Amino acid sequence: MAALPSDFQWGFATASYQIEGAVDKDGRGPSVWDTFCKLPGKIAGGVSGDVACDSYNRTAEDIALLKSVGATAYRFSLSWTRIIPVGGRGDPINQAGIDHYAKFIDDLLANGITPFLTLSHWDVPDGLEKRYGGVLNRTEFPLDFEHFARVCFKAFPKVKHWVTFNEPWCTSIHGYWSGQFAPGRGSNREKNPEGDSTTEPWIAGHNLLVAHGRAVKVYREEFKPTNGGEIGIVLNGDAVFPWDATDPEDVAACDRKIEFSICWFGDPVYFGEYPASMRKQLGDRLPTFTPEEKALVQGSNDFYGMNHYCANYIKHRTGEPEPDDHMGHLEALFYNKRGDCIGKETQSTWLRPCAPGFRDLLVWLSKRYNYPKIFVTENGTSIKGENDLPKEQILEDDFRVQYFDDYVKAMATASALDGVNVRGYFAWSLLDNFEWAEGYETRFGVTYVDYENGQTRYPKKSAKSLKPLFDSLIRK
Ligand code: NOJ
Repeated sequence: MAALPSDFQWGFATASYQIEGAVDKDGRGPSVWDTFCKLPGKIAGGVSGDVACDSYNRTAEDIALLKSVGATAYRFSLSWTRIIPVGGRGDPINQAGIDHYAKFIDDLLANGITPFLTLSHWDVPDGLEKRYGGVLNRTEFPLDFEHFARVCFKAFPKVKHWVTFNEPWCTSIHGYWSGQFAPGRGSNREKNPEGDSTTEPWIAGHNLLVAHGRAVKVYREEFKPTNGGEIGIVLNGDAVFPWDATDPEDVAACDRKIEFSICWFGDPVYFGEYPASMRKQLGDRLPTFTPEEKALVQGSNDFYGMNHYCANYIKHRTGEPEPDDHMGHLEALFYNKRGDCIGKETQSTWLRPCAPGFRDLLVWLSKRYNYPKIFVTENGTSIKGENDLPKEQILEDDFRVQYFDDYVKAMATASALDGVNVRGYFAWSLLDNFEWAEGYETRFGVTYVDYENGQTRYPKKSAKSLKPLFDSLIRK
């Protein structure tokens, strides 16, 4: 079944702090993640991204890897603090950081690999966090991000596919609600007495949206006319199934779950307003767009960037929502229901594969946002116990091969039969890497990285499985 358009691009994705290491090299400044990793008890094993996969020093090796597995595109992110070490409008720009990425981009293109570049994948400058509270500052943060974006658009004119932010839901909820991610605020957790989890996540999300809108405006006005490329935001969201399909309240809770995750950001970007369900539950704790902010945010996507991993069963909740409820008034998420497709465990507590959910969600999103162009900017899986296996067994990652086969075919079906306009796909991730709070214990890579022995890269079976899969699905 050749079901994907002939210009379909596919490849792998990574993010700067997760792979680069070399945190003190060539003038890089600290990000909130450098600071956060030093706090006791935050990261499994007490590790950090200080060394990670050492990709900053191994660009040629990583490009050779991409080429050897047939990727036509690569999604990666910039370290903001390599380019502006303190982060803000009046702060010095670091030419060494710009030169590094400019060369990397040139090298990718010389190897026939199209760069998809994310401006900010969670590693916000610590200088801005200290100066004015980082993402929580409604005036300064969007202006500083706009400045950073302008510097990058100017410095990297060969890049034609830009992402502003990666998964603002995660920054907002895990940075300001659970405290599991930098900067680690969230009053609901005993260990994180700082912050107010009833308001800060919604403020953070709002400011990220406005910052995104500012960067898009700059790109469209000052660069797009000559650069001719495209720009969008990347949103995460799981598929949903009602716990009891005959209970209308569970069915309604499914939509609410997507509205509180994806549409929190997607609705402002496409419609200029937050979802009604969020306004109803959160009232004034959810900021309101000023007319100026609304003009910046509405219509600000050239494409929809979709990060997608798994599915959940959704059960509604009775009574009044708690003040710090961020999911849309549900019982906790459920994975198991009579052992069907959501039942398989992975290393990540939150990840239960269910490829049919991917097709459903692609259709749901397409209907809501009038069939936008979609890039699947991340999709992938960890494997239960993978890190404890000997290398030879890790390389035989049949579970991951099957995952990609199922998910990519579900996407191809959505393209062929449901009218979904999906134009690219990036597997997460090119390399095993620093999996945030889970440290190095969870491996998402299609390449095994031997951290202890020279950072040697060994492609797993899954690395080689994607080319034949896409070759069979992309129209000639
Ligand atoms: C999404 C994030 O963008 C990425 O950084 C992370 O490693 C993967 N999910 C897997 O958890």
